[in-house]
Amino acid sequence: MAISRKVREQMNNSSWIRRMFEQGIELRNIHGNQNVFDLSLGNPLLEPPPEFKAELQRLIDEEAPGTHRYMPQAGFPEVRAKVAEVLAEESGTAFTGSDVLMTVGAAGGINTILRSILDKDDEVVLIAPFFGEYVFYVEHQTGVSKIATCDENWLPDIASLEETIGPRTRAVIINSPNNPTGVIYPKESIAAVAAAIQRAEEKHGTEIYLISDEPYRKLIYTDAPYPFIFEHHPRSIVATSHSKDLGLAGERIGYVAVNPNDPGKADLLDALNFSLRTLGFVNAPALMQRVVAGLQRATVDVDIYRKKRDLFYGSLTKIGYECVQPDGAFFVFPKSPIPDDTEFVAELQKELVLVVPGVGFGTPGYFRASYCVEDWVIEGAADGFEKVFAQLTS
Ligand SMILES: Cc1ncc(COP(=O)(O)O)c(C=O)c1O
Repeated sequence: MAISRKVREQMNNSSWIRRMFEQGIELRNIHGNQNVFDLSLGNPLLEPPPEFKAELQRLIDEEAPGTHRYMPQAGFPEVRAKVAEVLAEESGTAFTGSDVLMTVGAAGGINTILRSILDKDDEVVLIAPFFGEYVFYVEHQTGVSKIATCDENWLPDIASLEETIGPRTRAVIINSPNNPTGVIYPKESIAAVAAAIQRAEEKHGTEIYLISDEPYRKLIYTDAPYPFIFEHHPRSIVATSHSKDLGLAGERIGYVAVNPNDPGKADLLDALNFSLRTLGFVNAPALMQRVVAGLQRATVDVDIYRKKRDLFYGSLTKIGYECVQPDGAFFVFPKSPIPDDTEFVAELQKELVLVVPGVGFGTPGYFRASYCVEDWVIEGAADGFEKVFAQLTS
């Protein structure tokens, strides 16, 4: 066969995603769109805020010479300066434009970071439950994933993290608000993760990056300020995007911000520039860079997602599903009523309700359901959830 053995193996390991996708299409064809309750996808439902169209229109009308040309790899200097200004305000850390690289979404940013810091077989610690794509990103960038676990509130288990970090560890990836749990890591958790990293650095005489993947940072449903990583560890990097907060997932625009207090940041930034270019991204989409520069303080109407969270979380817990209340993103990650999450998902599918088994997030025994869907989907799924719960727990 002409394709890589490695890629074939990776595709097989993620085949449940493809299977679910195909089954979803098949079920819709048989039963009609309105009778299938698909909670399996994380595709942002809300359209971009009105400011997006206004800004896009303004830039199209203006179309200054050079708008569509190449620019420095890291992005237009004035865009990076604007991103840095707002990030500095929000985080309390003194960013300048030179600490920011515009990227092709958060996914492009994470791949760029990993390519820049990993040698072959270097290790990256993930904390389960985690976004399943990380494993493939790490492998593509020649690394190896090592998995630490969370406690019962889906916060990093520090003892597990300490055991998992070894002499080959180059990075720990955290993700808050988390996909799939929706949990926001409080300041104390981030401080504890950073302290564990620093103890490991001392023990092994190494340098370890804390990478924080934050595409849901502005989708939070509490009033508490978002806990940033920068004050806790000098070697810290944020990867984020406007896929969710501005509803621009298909436009592939995001950024990476490097801790201005990292003593090795000049080297790191050089490496990030090089990797962004040679991974084939070259630079982030030019027009979108300019658009989001003016939208750093804008978001979709987060209250709509909060109401959907309340509706869905309320409906599941009323039935009896055990679930940590999510305070951000647009997912719930309840316990499967039976230990075999794939069997549970198959039973639910018979009721035309589609969710993703926890095994896809490194955490069997649970399932992820997304509530970035129309309310009728959440409401329509309730009967199926109730029937399968009763059937499996009686
Ligand atoms: C946790 C997490 N990280 C990264 C990504 C990729 O984001 P983007 O589409 O902005 O590249 C996603 C997308 O769903 C995600 O859920």
